[in-house]
Amino acid sequence: MIKKEKVTERKTDFKYEIWSNELQKIYGKKDKAFEAVKKINLRVEPGIHGFLGPNGAGKTTTMSMLVGAISITSGEAKIRNEDAGSVAARRLFGFLPQDPVFYNHMTGEDYLIYMGKLGGLHKTEARKRAQELCAYFDIFDDRVRPIGEYSGGMKQKIGIAAALIHKPKLLILDEPTANLDPIGRASIIEKIKEISKTVSVFVSSHILSEIEQMCDRVTMINNGEIVISDTLKNIKKKYIGNTYQLDTNKNQEILQSLEKKDYVQKAWIKEEDETVQVIPKDADRLQTEIPKLILDNKAIMYSFHIPEVSLQDIFMEVYALGGSKK
Ligand SMILES: Nc1ncnc2c1ncn2[C@@H]1O[C@H](COP(=O)(O)OP(=O)(O)O)[C@@H](O)[C@H]1O
Ligand SMILES: [Mg+2]
Repeated sequence: MIKKEKVTERKTDFKYEIWSNELQKIYGKKDKAFEAVKKINLRVEPGIHGFLGPNGAGKTTTMSMLVGAISITSGEAKIRNEDAGSVAARRLFGFLPQDPVFYNHMTGEDYLIYMGKLGGLHKTEARKRAQELCAYFDIFDDRVRPIGEYSGGMKQKIGIAAALIHKPKLLILDEPTANLDPIGRASIIEKIKEISKTVSVFVSSHILSEIEQMCDRVTMINNGEIVISDTLKNIKKKYIGNTYQLDTNKNQEILQSLEKKDYVQKAWIKEEDETVQVIPKDADRLQTEIPKLILDNKAIMYSFHIPEVSLQDIFMEVYALGGSKK
């Protein structure tokens, strides 16, 4: 008889890069206690995920718990299948803190080698990887200069390179573009987008347009609470208006025709740009009937669409409401 061998394999399948259940952080004690993160349930799927919120929202506190830099008050968090703070979890991610501390006398290359060795690489391997990363971040010639002489953008590149040195599966970046000039920002954003094709990225920012440029999914946090977590596409869809805008060379005539149609609930001319605004009773019919209406009026159509609500508007609205719009 063949003895069936029992295999105790680590579970390698996972659904979320980052997952948390009622994750909470209270700073201080008793009357000084302050709840910075209020029992949040994070779901970060593979890909690039933005963590957005105004200053003081709790982004750094959350990330610090995820990477094991500060203790969790209550609840739990996992990186893939590993408990946040565990050695196994640490192997899975690379982390760029909001204010990385560099040894200014060290050269960029030596710093990366040092970080590589901390991450478990042998010296020769760490050196090879450090040089590869310096080339990748366009700082190959500067790698032999002390970090103290680097610009803000170069420091940020070294910080991200250090987070990547041990080839992690997930990159956690806390405000990687803060304190950079516009050119520095753009180049870091490009690199992060490129990196995210092979490594999952969880990136925080208080700047909406940056998150919008990089991410497919967003979690928004305010006052320690998640207010929205969804794909950018869904967020836009959810908040998009129901008012169509039509512009032709005969807007008054078109308006009069539209007002008589049973598929129209309300139509008017917008003062600012004199376009026709239409709220339909039946959007499908409005869309199919518009060409006929234009022909009947012998008009020329310039445009017909639902004006897109900008993400900025959505976030302003959500923050103003102080909660989620479900
Ligand atoms: N060590 C600390 N002790 C007490 N309060 C803190 C500490 N760190 C952060 N906070 C407070 O927790 C809240 C969240 O801060 P933080 O996580 O840094 O927000 P964000 O990164 O979104 O700007 C803020 O009100 C901040 O003042
Ligand atoms: Mg922060």
